[in-house]
Amino acid sequence: MARRTQRSVLPSSTRDFLRDYAAQEPSLLGRSYEQNVLADENKTSVGAVYTPLYIVDYIVENTLRRTEIPSPAILDPACGGGYFLLASYQWLIDRQVETKRRRLSDTELLSILRDSIFGADIDAGAVEITQHALALMAFQNRTDTSNQNTPLFDQALNELSKTIIVGNSLTGPAFTSAKNSRPVDANAINWPIRHPQLLDRGGFDVVIGNPPYCRELDFGEQLEQIARTALGKAYRSPRMDLWYYFVHRGRELLRPDGLLSFIVNSYWTSSTGAAKLIATMRDSMAMEEVVDLGRAKVFDKVSGPHMIFRLRNQHSTSKIAVKRIPESVRESAEAFVVGTKTVDTELVDPATFYRGGKVRLRGNSEARQLQHLEQFTPLENLGQVRQGIAENPASINARTNQRFDNRWQVGEGVFVLTKDEVAALSLTNSERELLRPYHTLSDIDCYRVAKEPSKYLIYSTRETCPDIEAFPNIKRHLEPFKEIMQARRETSNGNNQWWHLHWPRDEAIWRSPKIICPQMVAQPTFAASLEPCYVPFSVNVFVPEDTSRENLYFITAILNSSLLRTWFEHHAKQRGVGLEINGHVLKQAPVREVDHNTPRDVRLYKEIVDLTGDCKIESRIDKLVSEFYKVN
Ligand SMILES: C[S@@+](CC[C@H](N)C(=O)[O-])C[C@H]1O[C@@H](n2cnc3c(N)ncnc32)[C@H](O)[C@@H]1O
Repeated sequence: MARRTQRSVLPSSTRDFLRDYAAQEPSLLGRSYEQNVLADENKTSVGAVYTPLYIVDYIVENTLRRTEIPSPAILDPACGGGYFLLASYQWLIDRQVETKRRRLSDTELLSILRDSIFGADIDAGAVEITQHALALMAFQNRTDTSNQNTPLFDQALNELSKTIIVGNSLTGPAFTSAKNSRPVDANAINWPIRHPQLLDRGGFDVVIGNPPYCRELDFGEQLEQIARTALGKAYRSPRMDLWYYFVHRGRELLRPDGLLSFIVNSYWTSSTGAAKLIATMRDSMAMEEVVDLGRAKVFDKVSGPHMIFRLRNQHSTSKIAVKRIPESVRESAEAFVVGTKTVDTELVDPATFYRGGKVRLRGNSEARQLQHLEQFTPLENLGQVRQGIAENPASINARTNQRFDNRWQVGEGVFVLTKDEVAALSLTNSERELLRPYHTLSDIDCYRVAKEPSKYLIYSTRETCPDIEAFPNIKRHLEPFKEIMQARRETSNGNNQWWHLHWPRDEAIWRSPKIICPQMVAQPTFAASLEPCYVPFSVNVFVPEDTSRENLYFITAILNSSLLRTWFEHHAKQRGVGLEINGHVLKQAPVREVDHNTPRDVRLYKEIVDLTGDCKIESRIDKLVSEFYKVN
């Protein structure tokens, strides 16, 4: 084979690999690069995690066989070691060999490369590897395999220097971008200038790959640069991942009806940072297939759930094929992807798949579950659902302070005090009796409320404190804030005195055993409290009827379960990163009542109560961890 002399960006160790592997599988070049160069240079910082070949083959096969075009233009915009392009090239060669029933001439091999195989990567070394591997693949598919001296390898490298290019796929103008839009950095790929032949046909026929996954937190700088481009201006969102841009860019580079298929992590499906991505997929494209790989192992270095999806650049209301590896699988996804182990396939309606602005991979089963839950008793039938105390104010916030000429310190306690603030008041014993344990949001966890409250509440009401003169130290503390309290509705209309809490609620609520839950939560968080516990306005309270036979921890477990989480996610308002579970939503939460005459119900009830009952989970975990560490 004629060796080509070109200025190499590769370290000499990698060039040695090129030479050594020249006689072997072209894809081994990328693998060697991954193992020997990337590992050394810690290239995972650009999101370089290379894809197992069975995933590459699945994506290539399932995408390319769906394009009717004989010479589709295929792009991997973050081509890395070039596996997707190599598999695509071989796939196209094989199809032509099948049809023509002969090996292909050098000209035919070169024209497939020229017309169909396009790649880009920000890493010049990866691009060089991909170019060499593809040239080698052309060489290996030549008709006369005994001839080592054909110019094919060099000719292929020459073609590939125009089609596999170094640069940032995201920061330059796309085919659809305004003519005058300028790249923001020297590295940016100007797509219409680099591939003008694709302008007339509207872009690439296929975009495939494994785009870099970089959470915003880690890749702020790169995302900042993209934010200044047209792509960034259109699609930047807080808490997004870099790969979302590759879908948006992929769509801009695809012709109408073209196909895009990626392997990605699955966190986006329920992420608020993916709202624009999900809207683009739902409103401008058609999701044709999702392979939910669950938590099966895909990458060596990256854990977490993954999925493969295939999108068509054309809106459609056709059902989506969702293939699913069972959640419990932790071993390699390979057997499921290549088909030696079966996966369930469901056809899901787009409206079910994209419900509530999120992607519901378990759309159909979720819809069935939600329907099933409708028959059960709303929580409000089992007791009262109320909101926490409106102290008005609990402490001084910046707005109030500003309104009153900044005469206090922001954070200074009014009705709600820290331990130190209480100590500073030097209260008498009878004054201390006005204090109540006050649990702020940070005291509330799944199942439990902190034993020690983080704050204390001056529970001053018409009943507990009809005359402030009887509590001189409390009067001395509250009086400087009198103007704030006098401006409140309940004080100005004469219902309350200025030293009273605005809405203290019926005190029996705070003394009773109850379930409490913050209204704004990342995920529903219910805690059972058997002790007196007073909570702020932003917390919901459920107090069961006296006649209720159900154990409080049992209902807490139900409300915290993933089944009810699905229900809340569907019924509560989506706000920022989480949910807003207001009292109205909580009242409707479906609770299945225990039939104490049915052995199955009694058994499950006991098991659930046993697990959740006072500190059982912690003590069981503690015991297991001690056993694990071999300490008594
Ligand atoms: C996860 S790797 C995937 C490699 C390839 N798809 C494979 O499996 O062989 C992602 C690649 O994206 C490249 N990359 C990261 N940011 C890029 C950008 N803005 N434009 C082009 N390539 C980029 C990295 O250099 C890396 O090679």
